[in-house]
Amino acid sequence: METNQSIIETMKIRTSVRTYDGQAIAADTLEKLNERLRTINATTTIKARFILGEMKDTDGNAVKKLGTYGVITGARTYLVGIIDQSETDAVQFGYLFESIVLYATQLGLGTCWLGGTFNQEDFKKIVRLGESEKIVIVSPVGYRKDRATLMEGIMRTMVKANNRKPWTELFFNQDKTQTLDEEGAGGYAIPLEMVRLAPSASNKQPWRVIRSDTGFHFYLCRTKGYGSASYDVQMNDLGIAKYHFEKAADELGLSGKWDKIDHPVVEEWEYVTSWQGN
Ligand SMILES: Cc1cc2nc3c(=O)[nH]c(=O)nc-3n(C[C@H](O)[C@H](O)[C@H](O)COP(=O)(O)O)c2cc1C
Repeated sequence: METNQSIIETMKIRTSVRTYDGQAIAADTLEKLNERLRTINATTTIKARFILGEMKDTDGNAVKKLGTYGVITGARTYLVGIIDQSETDAVQFGYLFESIVLYATQLGLGTCWLGGTFNQEDFKKIVRLGESEKIVIVSPVGYRKDRATLMEGIMRTMVKANNRKPWTELFFNQDKTQTLDEEGAGGYAIPLEMVRLAPSASNKQPWRVIRSDTGFHFYLCRTKGYGSASYDVQMNDLGIAKYHFEKAADELGLSGKWDKIDHPVVEEWEYVTSWQGN
């Protein structure tokens, strides 16, 4: 079991896993994951928490299908992401949830972000919610089964899960009219590539980045008519992108910090934050 695995390599190998072998997570692995959750829950600056819930193995079918409309099979353990109704920072929520997903990947566990295909009521039965709390994201956590289900194949095809947009659609230089290539990105080519490989809801890849003399500016290019009013799942995707960019930069020894600063304005994109670094 590897926990000091390179974060860049981890980002490269992570893919959503929807078919699990039904085995319980090894005790020492589970303890490590729980330890990480305790740390995150103790230090988070937003009103959110992350816990593991067990699907009761009362009958085979429950473990097979419960709560995910048949999208996930064979998972017993779920990571449940809970947020207070008053909390609006979906960016930070996405950032934290992805940090757990990648840690689980390092522990040899499969995961799959679920923002849509899970049933709130079923999950409320396995975690205790406070009055003002709601579950916004869950993920199965467990061991991948060698042979994926037909449903998994259908889901991956539907969202073109293996595809990512090219650099020319995601990364720009100075303004939206000039694209940024890997050469232009210099030392930041890998952090940007890690943004490109990140998971996103329905694989919409709504993140856009403009490099200017002051830094890398992150924007959300919303998919029209997508998402629900109860949780800003595309802002959540920006949090995932932030985590990938920052941790890849960290690993490469590139220092910097996040701040809202003067940035190019692009009418159809929502500005989120900027990375100031060198
Ligand atoms: C915020 C978020 C919500 C998601 N919701 C679902 C979901 O409800 N059901 C599902 O099967 N996959 C869901 N996914 C997984 C994406 O479809 C998947 O990450 C994307 O297709 C890219 O594939 P990959 O994760 O294998 O790289 C979600 C991903 C994210 C980041």
